[in-house]
Amino acid sequence: MELGLLSMMENKIKWIHCTLIALTAQIIDGIHVAKYVKSRIMKKIYCLKAENMEPCLATVLVGDNLASATYVKNKQRAAVELGMKTMDLRLPSNCTQSELIELIKSLNEDVTVHGILVQLPLPVHLDTYIITNTIKPLKDVDGLTTTNMGLLVSGRGCLKPCTPVGILELLDHYGINVSGLHVVIVNRSQLVGKPLAFLFLERNATVTICHSKSNDILKEIKDADLVITGVGNREKFTLTGEMITNGSIVVDVGITRYKGKLGGDVDYPSVAQKASWITPVPGGVGPMTVCMLLNNTLIAASLSKA
Ligand SMILES: NC(=O)c1ccc[n+]([C@@H]2O[C@H](COP(=O)([O-])OP(=O)(O)OC[C@H]3O[C@@H](n4cnc5c(N)ncnc54)[C@H](OP(=O)(O)O)[C@@H]3O)[C@@H](O)[C@H]2O)c1
Repeated sequence: MELGLLSMMENKIKWIHCTLIALTAQIIDGIHVAKYVKSRIMKKIYCLKAENMEPCLATVLVGDNLASATYVKNKQRAAVELGMKTMDLRLPSNCTQSELIELIKSLNEDVTVHGILVQLPLPVHLDTYIITNTIKPLKDVDGLTTTNMGLLVSGRGCLKPCTPVGILELLDHYGINVSGLHVVIVNRSQLVGKPLAFLFLERNATVTICHSKSNDILKEIKDADLVITGVGNREKFTLTGEMITNGSIVVDVGITRYKGKLGGDVDYPSVAQKASWITPVPGGVGPMTVCMLLNNTLIAASLSKA
């Protein structure tokens, strides 16, 4: 029997086991899956290079926000590690909207650049919607332009937002099929909750989106087979073991510092006692987001050949 199929069956058996007996959750290991995806990406880069095509990712950072600079550095480093060409473009925090638009337009025209990423959030004087939509949709490796969002909603998405597709890749790797499941997403942002909801609908899940104004989040979460949480503020929202049903799957997108430690929205010890599967933070969704950005750059490079 094929190894992949065997491991999927093993995972399914573990899942059923955990669901029935409520043991400690199985870990959805983003670092492990990211390694696997990266090796796939590396092979594709090698093949494209053999066809005289060098995939190139251009990142644009405006200002000196420390967290944003770290995210850009990680994306650049991951791309270079896999043999992808990169451009690292920076503008000062007081740059004008026209200067940033001109830079993006020049990258749109540059045939050696396949993917463009403008790191968010932007300084408040810049209009995120206008800036995002200046990126040519075929080079929009964050999948955030109105065109790419519209395609995604129509079930024809090609360049899809990185964190949502990273979550699907994680679930697929462990053989977790969401068809028919009740998925509750605590987040309604453009980056996470909205695209994720449509991707899950495409996979025949029943989706509920919760947010800060939802009346009864606890009731929704109790009813969920799969909870995805992405709030990023433990004072406002913490997912604890007593909130979930035995055997549910928990994916933590949040990144926050709590009591001096980096973590997510989930109170890991109590949730891991009841969930069947759980993503840790760090080491869960985060590593997948970067992988999917590089994967999108490869898709964009292939699209440029068509
Ligand atoms: N791991 C990764 O790769 C990755 C990628 C992207 C983001 N993140 C992390 O994910 C988190 C969310 O990111 P984002 O960009 O989506 O942020 P965001 O736009 O601020 O979204 C936060 C969401 O949480 C909701 N929320 C806030 N307080 C709540 C409460 N008390 N109860 C229920 N919902 C509440 C908000 O609802 P309203 O809409 O009503 O305000 C909003 O939908 C952050 O920690 C970010 O760092 C991680």
